[in-house]
Amino acid sequence: MAATVAAILCVWLSLLSIAHSVHGMSRWPGGSSTRFYDFKVQTKTVTKLCNTKDIVTINGMFPGPVVYAQEDDRVIVRLTNLTPYNATIHWHGVRQRLSCWFDGPSYITQCPIQAGQTFTYEFTLVQQKGTLLWHAHVSWLRATVYGAIVVYPKTGVPYPFPYPYEEHIIILGEYWLRDVLQLEQAVLASGGGPPIADAYTINGHPGPNYNCSGNDVYKIDVVPGKTYLLRLINAGLNNENFFGIANHKLTIVEADAEYTKPFTTDRVMLGPGQTLNVLVTANQPIGRYSMAMGPYMSAQNVPFQNITAVAYFQYLGATPNSLSLPAVLPSFNNNLAVKTVMDGLKGLNTSSVPKEIDKNLFVTIGVNVQKCNRKNPQKNCQGVNGGVMAASMNNISFIRPNISLLEAYYRDKNGYFTEDFPGTPLKFYDFVNGAPNNAPNNTNSKNGTRVFVLEYGTRVQLILQDTGTVATENHPIHLHGYSFYVVGYGTGNYNPDKATFNLVDPPYMNTIGVPVGGWAAIRFTADNPGAWFMHCHLEIHLSWGLSMVFIVKNGQGPLETLPHPPADYPRC
Ligand code: C2O
Repeated sequence: MAATVAAILCVWLSLLSIAHSVHGMSRWPGGSSTRFYDFKVQTKTVTKLCNTKDIVTINGMFPGPVVYAQEDDRVIVRLTNLTPYNATIHWHGVRQRLSCWFDGPSYITQCPIQAGQTFTYEFTLVQQKGTLLWHAHVSWLRATVYGAIVVYPKTGVPYPFPYPYEEHIIILGEYWLRDVLQLEQAVLASGGGPPIADAYTINGHPGPNYNCSGNDVYKIDVVPGKTYLLRLINAGLNNENFFGIANHKLTIVEADAEYTKPFTTDRVMLGPGQTLNVLVTANQPIGRYSMAMGPYMSAQNVPFQNITAVAYFQYLGATPNSLSLPAVLPSFNNNLAVKTVMDGLKGLNTSSVPKEIDKNLFVTIGVNVQKCNRKNPQKNCQGVNGGVMAASMNNISFIRPNISLLEAYYRDKNGYFTEDFPGTPLKFYDFVNGAPNNAPNNTNSKNGTRVFVLEYGTRVQLILQDTGTVATENHPIHLHGYSFYVVGYGTGNYNPDKATFNLVDPPYMNTIGVPVGGWAAIRFTADNPGAWFMHCHLEIHLSWGLSMVFIVKNGQGPLETLPHPPADYPRC
């Protein structure tokens, strides 16, 4: 009975999508087939690290449900909020072709979905396949509200590498015993930095190095001689991480859901928001091998969780007495280990790298300290030198509006943002070693809700330059609505005369870890109209204002024009 209903539903859905493409204006946003998901935002009581608490989840699952689809599919997710908290979901890395309304960042493309409300996300995975993630995009809810998106190639299209025996999703996370929404409020009120996570987790499990977690361990059983595809995702909040498996090599075949030339390494680094597909062959003596997640902390004097999360890569036939080996990760500040992997990332299909550029942008990224002007400095100015921590792009700290910025733009509502985000820094100075105003002492940024407007089709080159205003740091910068080619990167201040670019086979990514005290150059063509958030994916930096918005205007005709907002679009 249930099977019949499902079959009818399936036929009906595919008829729907055929109807769509016949009467609709285009291949998209129609999609090949349609995948429907029902997401309920709900609290769930969990016990971890000897502590029982309620966490916010989707459908009571932690990590949340996997969204499976195939390239060019239509995905429909109905989100119902059964918690008292505001919620939104961002489909990280989904390019949201002509569907910016469904991108998810709160106050950028939508108002949050309030308690008791429902909103249906709909988008097409146009020419996208691989591993992505979805996560909450409001306050720090992402700490527990995240899951994988797995997009398979179209039927009959093989992977460009030997078919793995099995595939496994490995999601790295950070876990707090405190309520994360209150935690964000408390950190912002203090003016200082955030406390470290209580644990790192692998698929929600901290593993045996933590208190009370000897049995709270994720495990993959492997068959000797077989090759496995691991879909690695970093969904953590405030830390970048190394990952490795004891005595096993990882061969990277995909980064941010785009194929790469195979590159073999002992370990990888993922910043929050990044995904990597790696092949691992079980070619070692029968035993139990650790898969480990540890910290990569490139900034100085920033505290971090230093206990490694461990999961097991366990051979069939291993007994309690067989070999058991820990994974060896680079030390927390090993920048070279990060660079080595980055140097190895080369795109597989990169025919469309923009060779000519219409717009050259230069954006500094970094942390600031504002002068304390709060009533109770003892309590509320706990930042560096008794100031208040902030972060900025081109020395402007983004102030989140209290409406949907996309809607304000679309409906021409004035007064919510300004179109004067500067395409270059307000001032050029020694970014890595100096400070923006009256170097080296004045570390303030300006505040504003500023956007940068791009004409449809503009070919953009963007230099992202790390600053050492407070401390240099590797920042995972994420752009919504696009993937971009990472055509160059280096250390120190960007120097156009010395920089070398790869226009032949750069990786095509959606989140780039800009080297600590260095720069990265990215290129994309602004051919997707909407309001697209660009920000540091370290959540604390986002809270501090390390973000901006690109508004990409409509082009000509329906294929270059953002449609109307959906009927159930949330109100603030
Ligand atoms: Cu995954 Cu705006 O982020």
